Amino acid sequence: MKRPQHKYPFLLWSLLLIAISSCNGPAGTKTTGKDTTVAEAVKLKTANFQQTINDKKVKLYTLKNSTGASVAITNFGGRIVSLMVHDKNGVLTDVVLGHDGLTGYQTKPENYFGAIIGRYGNRIAKGKFTLAGKTYQLDINDGVNTLHGGFKGFYDQVFDAVQPDSSSLELTYTSKDGEGGYPGTLNVKVVYNVTADNAVRITYTATTDKITIINLTNHAYFNLNGEGKGSILNHLLTIRADAITPVDTTLIPTGQLQTVKNTPFDFTKAKTIGADINNQNEQLKNGKGYDHNFALNKHSLTQSVATVSSPNSGICMDIYTNEPGLQFYSGNFLTGKTHDGKGGKVYGYRSAFCLETQHFPNAPNQPAFASTVLKPGQTYHTVTEYKFSVNK
Ligand code: GLA
Repeated sequence: MKRPQHKYPFLLWSLLLIAISSCNGPAGTKTTGKDTTVAEAVKLKTANFQQTINDKKVKLYTLKNSTGASVAITNFGGRIVSLMVHDKNGVLTDVVLGHDGLTGYQTKPENYFGAIIGRYGNRIAKGKFTLAGKTYQLDINDGVNTLHGGFKGFYDQVFDAVQPDSSSLELTYTSKDGEGGYPGTLNVKVVYNVTADNAVRITYTATTDKITIINLTNHAYFNLNGEGKGSILNHLLTIRADAITPVDTTLIPTGQLQTVKNTPFDFTKAKTIGADINNQNEQLKNGKGYDHNFALNKHSLTQSVATVSSPNSGICMDIYTNEPGLQFYSGNFLTGKTHDGKGGKVYGYRSAFCLETQHFPNAPNQPAFASTVLKPGQTYHTVTEYKFSVNK
């Protein structure tokens, strides 16, 4: 039987590829006709976020733009608690995992939901590094390594918060000399903005009084179907990276760059997260799925470094960053058993993904990787944007 032939096959394929590999039209242009605040939409009770921790007042702050997109942030760990964007039908959808109140963030097994990660996002081998002739020992909180700042990283600290206007929040924190084993008094400022074009922009700045290392990121767990709405394996993902930093069995980079070509790590063209996740591949075995740093081809605030979309909701997210690396984690440690979240929803195996912008893991022990050293007189400054739109 002869297959029907299209007159313009090339044009059709091109249009399809454009549709699936990048976000289009702005999200949030359609409204439900109802002024839905974050607190109403996810039924977050602000009272559940009011507490004094470490002698500091903790609250829930809501940031909004004119389209109705909004983010709720607690100054405990600088965490994104909810992130509401419109889906293809104009329904406000919460796309991040989280808890109903501070108790959840203090007692549940997942420390990092939505949090600012510091002083060093990702792993440092054996929690050890040498700087200006002195060796420092950090907390060992992940097997034999240190992860995400140790036992009391920034996810566990209270930031001072100032809300200059309805769409932004400024968080500051002073990390004392020696905190978590890191040298230098570090003054950190993290500014969240919800922009008019539906991006959540995070601007990180820091200064130190002694030579130190720094690698800040945010650890939002996304599910673009809507949080608690099952697996993320059907999401289409593009990562504009031709190489990853392969890891050993403790997830420490070997120091090499490995091409993604002909491997399950090739996301240079959009494919579903689930397409190759169960392949027999040594790196996938080491990560128990994807848990790897991608070396971005370009890192800029004008070109998207990664695009993810959900076929169910039509929600699409583009990431912009001036960081050289992107950790793609496919929620391999979410168990569903104790990982219950907002509204009692169960957060099962691979029901979220993280895309953490960063310098490369273990950079303090890998001279070939871009430096994460910060000296007195210098200002650390990085920016990451998560920008939302809809594919209809
Ligand atoms: C990071 C790590 C993962 C895991 C998650 C949190 O993304 O790379 O291995 O620890 O945080 O569970």
